[in-house]
Amino acid sequence: MAQRMKQSIKVSTKENSRISEKNDASNASTSNVLPVEKELVQHDDLHHNKIEELERHGISANDIRKLKVAGFYTIQSIAHALPKELMTVEGISDKKAEKLLIESKKYAKMSFELASAIHLNRAEIIMLKTGSEALDRLLGGGIETGSITEIFGEFRTGKSQLCHQLAVACQLPIDRGGGEGKCIWIDTEGTFRPERLIAIAERFKLNANEVLDHVAVARAYNTDHQLRLLTQAAAMMSESRYTLLIVDSVMALFRTDYSGRGELAARQMALARFLRALTNLTEEFGIAVVITNQVVAQVDGGGGMYQADPKKPIGGNILAHASTTRLYLRKGKQNERICKIYDSPCLPEDDARFAITGFGIEDVKDKDENKKKSGYDSD
Ligand SMILES: Nc1ncnc2c1ncn2[C@@H]1O[C@H](COP(=O)(O)OP(=O)(O)OP(=O)(O)O)[C@@H](O)[C@H]1O
Ligand SMILES: [Mg+2]
Repeated sequence: MAQRMKQSIKVSTKENSRISEKNDASNASTSNVLPVEKELVQHDDLHHNKIEELERHGISANDIRKLKVAGFYTIQSIAHALPKELMTVEGISDKKAEKLLIESKKYAKMSFELASAIHLNRAEIIMLKTGSEALDRLLGGGIETGSITEIFGEFRTGKSQLCHQLAVACQLPIDRGGGEGKCIWIDTEGTFRPERLIAIAERFKLNANEVLDHVAVARAYNTDHQLRLLTQAAAMMSESRYTLLIVDSVMALFRTDYSGRGELAARQMALARFLRALTNLTEEFGIAVVITNQVVAQVDGGGGMYQADPKKPIGGNILAHASTTRLYLRKGKQNERICKIYDSPCLPEDDARFAITGFGIEDVKDKDENKKKSGYDSD
């Protein structure tokens, strides 16, 4: 039977797919450290179908191999492609492309659905907690899986720190605010720091070595490389459960690879290609995608004469349209930061404070607000 494509990561029903919370002395280095299960989930809990399944529908192993070389790892990725995209793959004729689409569309949901069904589905969407209850409240529960969240702000506003926090949070059991999956991190600026993951893992009483083993990091060196890494990411996601993909920062290499007004159109075209591939990954695998971005001062007066902080994210309309939720971070006093919902399909334009501490992202601790410890500790 054709399996319906799901657009976001849902709560798994299988007991064996959960990250073990057993206090297994052989895995944990200390008695109060919770191990993260090495093999997070079985393949049949993943929300996609491997392209190899098409062999049962008359597609040759050789064609499947060529499609994989071209970056198609799931049946859903084929169902979402245009015939002309499939025909760029060596050996795929128009006839074969047509057959591929007919067979793969049986696995993908590509028609109308009742709002009530969508509503039910959305109730099950996993939200990755940020480490700060105030921030989670602002975000309606946390960072949503199945869509792209853009975090932008000036330097030192906590964009990368929040990414480190989420790289650990996505591994937590679902009942502790996690996604029970692994993380892929594309680092364009060389600012990924495993030490930060270790500190955050300790806060959540997770085995730090296992947490590190569940984060795959690639340094991107140019925009072509940045795009190629998404193909590798798709291959990894087709094999194992990932709940988060981070690109920190999304625009840095586009800014250096394409300079000046003369190259702006080419830059935006390359950016659109990258963002299209990113959007496809969120839809195929239901992962949360978090991208960070920089700001520039608005020189066109768009910020308005009386606007106190007239900064805007870079990347233009192409980036604005690809990001489902856009969060603007600003500096507050000392280690405090302010997060504002800049754009969202369902959240009001509100803001919340959080703190950057040695243990990652936490609530601001002052007399007015949140005296409670913000870690969603185990018992
Ligand atoms: N171990 C730590 N303990 C407490 N605060 C830390 C720690 N490590 C980093 N920070 C704070 O995090 C802030 C930097 O945040 P982050 O690296 O996330 O900035 P960013 O928004 O990514 O900036 P950029 O645009 O330069 O990449 C600094 O103010 C720094 O003091
Ligand atoms: Mg950074």
